[in-house]
Amino acid sequence: MRDNSIEEVKSRCDIVDVIGREVELKRAGSNYKGLCPFHKEKTPSFVVSEDKQIFTCFGCGATGDVIEFEQKYYNLDFMEALEKLASECGVTIEHGRGGDTSDREELYRINREAAKFFYTAFRRAPNKGAEYMKGREIGEDILKKFGIGYADENWDSLYNYLKGLGFPDDKMLKLGLISFSKGKYYDKFRDRVMFPIINTGGKIIGFGGRAIGDVMPKYLNSQESSVFMKKNNLYGLNLTRQEISKENSAVIVEGYMDVIGLYQGGVRNVSASLGTALTDSQAKLIKRYTKNVILSYDADDAGRAAALRGIDILHGQGCRVRVLHVTDGKDPDEFIRKKGRQAFLDLTETALPYADYKFDAISRRHDMNDTEERLEFLKEAVGVLRTLSPVEADMYIRKLSSGYDISEGAIRKEMAETESGPPDRKRASREEHVDIPMGRLEKNIIKVLITESRFYERAGEFTAAFESTDGKAILKAMDRVYERGKEFDINLILDNLDESAAEAMKNIDCDMLPVGDGQKMFEDCLDAMKIEKLQKKEKLLTDKITMAEGMDDQVVKGLFEELSDTRSEISSLRKRGH
Ligand code: GTP
Ligand code: MN
Repeated sequence: MRDNSIEEVKSRCDIVDVIGREVELKRAGSNYKGLCPFHKEKTPSFVVSEDKQIFTCFGCGATGDVIEFEQKYYNLDFMEALEKLASECGVTIEHGRGGDTSDREELYRINREAAKFFYTAFRRAPNKGAEYMKGREIGEDILKKFGIGYADENWDSLYNYLKGLGFPDDKMLKLGLISFSKGKYYDKFRDRVMFPIINTGGKIIGFGGRAIGDVMPKYLNSQESSVFMKKNNLYGLNLTRQEISKENSAVIVEGYMDVIGLYQGGVRNVSASLGTALTDSQAKLIKRYTKNVILSYDADDAGRAAALRGIDILHGQGCRVRVLHVTDGKDPDEFIRKKGRQAFLDLTETALPYADYKFDAISRRHDMNDTEERLEFLKEAVGVLRTLSPVEADMYIRKLSSGYDISEGAIRKEMAETESGPPDRKRASREEHVDIPMGRLEKNIIKVLITESRFYERAGEFTAAFESTDGKAILKAMDRVYERGKEFDINLILDNLDESAAEAMKNIDCDMLPVGDGQKMFEDCLDAMKIEKLQKKEKLLTDKITMAEGMDDQVVKGLFEELSDTRSEISSLRKRGH
């Protein structure tokens, strides 16, 4: 991604307009004031500056630019916030890697048009889709909220519609909206209720289509494409993530209809894993909003197996996960329709925590009256204990002991005997990058390090200051190499880098002048980094002070003191020289 698209977005999206859509702002001198959306307050201490294009809250300290506002307000990562703003103000973001953006934008547009087409058909009476959903007792408001549509029975109505809008065949094929057979294009989704799948950036990435009646497959999903990767998305999260944050808990279910049923029933912190086993990337996604996850999968064998895999993934990502299998009704959708919201909430209280669920599942696989099998059980249970924190493990040793009548001593002995290193975590899957380019200081430091590896002992002083994508990747790779030999073999470092970072590394190695006085260059770089950071702070403080009109004297005085400290720190660093 080009650095200048960040600037472009910032210059085109006026912070007062953007924030003003969500927060009621009133002019106050040269600034705007309102109630802070990030903490509860009765008198406004949230100030937005048009000149400086920043916001700051003198109550809770929240502060930042327009992108940071979007991130915080909508719980987005940097890239998502940027894309959201970019699409709102008509900026095209250039991606450095990860495919051609204009191509992707067109795919999103096609999906959006298709969704509109389905949506309109659903609202044209009478049609089988609307009838079917009526039978499932979903109200009009909820159907609208989820953008539910209907793909009619014809062989080519969507194709003709999209063709009429001028979209090319190959793009429609790529999205899996149409197929080609015997010299003709025809619609993939026919006579189905259509569930648009929308990512957290608000883009329609694909569809799930439910058959009306007993047609196979029951659900048909869009095929994977550059805009639709099932493993990276959760259904419904676009609508529910704020609720998930607020409740600090998420209910993850298996199906589209479970999300819609629970949502209508008043359980709104819900999302579905799109019919696949939960992935690491989905766990990371949910973790942005909460660490507390309740898996509520069907009670059948498939649901139990999926829950077992799912909890390992979530636990592995550091979530606090519990499992719930509804008993009245086959799935959460049926349950809440029969029993209502409170009954579901009561049930979530009884959901089994990770370790309990694992022990239960393991014991089901073993005949606990057989000595050999009990031993097997113990071995597997100890494997679970080992993934827990020491305090938790201790608690569960006691629980296991009393629950399954095994002596604590035997469990502890087994734990000690099979002691091994920490389980290796799979490397994180490749995610979308925001490529912040490497600056001079980062390059200099890396150059010094490969020349004189001893400075790496001071990694703590510069690691956090590295901002660029490639720079961070290089440091990570160097860390791995350093651990092995306390030396930097350039080829070993390169082996640990992706293409772009490897390129940057080679340039640093070859193009830069050799380091003269390593010590001096290193110290100078560190100081320059510190000064840069302090200057940013100084700028923010002066901005805040100009925005502090009418605020509490104590607060303003505090800002001045901080500013004066920051300035003297800067000047003493400047004087130092090496
Ligand atoms: P309803 O019968 O409409 O209530 O659906 P359900 O969600 O109860 O169905 P089920 O438990 O059978 O499936 C759960 C989820 O798995 C669905 O929401 C789909 O995402 C997925 N799924 C179910 N059947 C199929 C299928 O035939 N093909 C594919 N690709 N996915 C399916
Ligand atoms: Mn169902």
